[in-house]
Amino acid sequence: MSAPRSAADVWNDEYRRGRYQDEPPVAFVADILAAARRDGATDGLYVGCGNGRNLLPLVDGGLDLLGLDISAEAVRQLADRRPDRAARLRHGDLDSLPARTVWPLVIGIQVFQHGDRDQAHRQVRAAQRRVASGGVMCVRVNAVGTDVWPAHEVVEQAPDGGFTVRYTAGPKRGLDIHFFSRGELDRLFEGWAPVLPLRPHRTERTPPGTGQWTQWEAIWRRPAGGPGPASATDALSR
Ligand SMILES: C[S@@+](CC[C@H](N)C(=O)[O-])C[C@H]1O[C@@H](n2cnc3c(N)ncnc32)[C@H](O)[C@@H]1O
Repeated sequence: MSAPRSAADVWNDEYRRGRYQDEPPVAFVADILAAARRDGATDGLYVGCGNGRNLLPLVDGGLDLLGLDISAEAVRQLADRRPDRAARLRHGDLDSLPARTVWPLVIGIQVFQHGDRDQAHRQVRAAQRRVASGGVMCVRVNAVGTDVWPAHEVVEQAPDGGFTVRYTAGPKRGLDIHFFSRGELDRLFEGWAPVLPLRPHRTERTPPGTGQWTQWEAIWRRPAGGPGPASATDALSR
């Protein structure tokens, strides 16, 4: 079995190789902007913002997002590309943010799948704790049903269908990545109201890739009530 590698190392290498540089945003960005407009939300947190293929269209669509990423290279590239956003980028993970700070809008696109099932669930729950009462969380994550490619080993398989692989080839070699089942996400978001109900989004790979990869996309609203944590405006400099 390949030795595990840290996600930050893998992604730093990928961004240095030019990952996402000329890629258009995912279509889910339009759903996020529509949901934010309906709520009148302008302030948000984007977990795993990468080098900006989705963050920038969201910002240009009217959202003031704090971009967070564990890849120093991603943050550097994004700040170089858009110096006007540099002060709103942060190198780190959710634990690096001030405790109890919440946002009306929290976004995670292809980020919560890093690690095994337990790590992936802990990331989802940590992001959920950053959503203000009545706020929304927008999620796009790996789905079961994906033709996993390239070479990998299945290191974990749960009765609800969710599984984890460790890649043995390709850019993510040595990285554990989780694939969520519908039931798994339903349970993680139990008690949250669907704003955009969970749907699968399939993409055919272009050669030399084979098969398709599927992502779940959904927007959920956190139930109103509960404790009132500090708002992002109070706790983070702007
Ligand atoms: C598949 S890329 C997606 C980037 C961006 N969301 C996009 O769609 O262009 C995953 C990103 O999540 C970041 N990441 C992985 N785990 C993270 C964590 N725990 N906290 C913050 N960022 C993380 C990686 O460094 C990488 O930039």
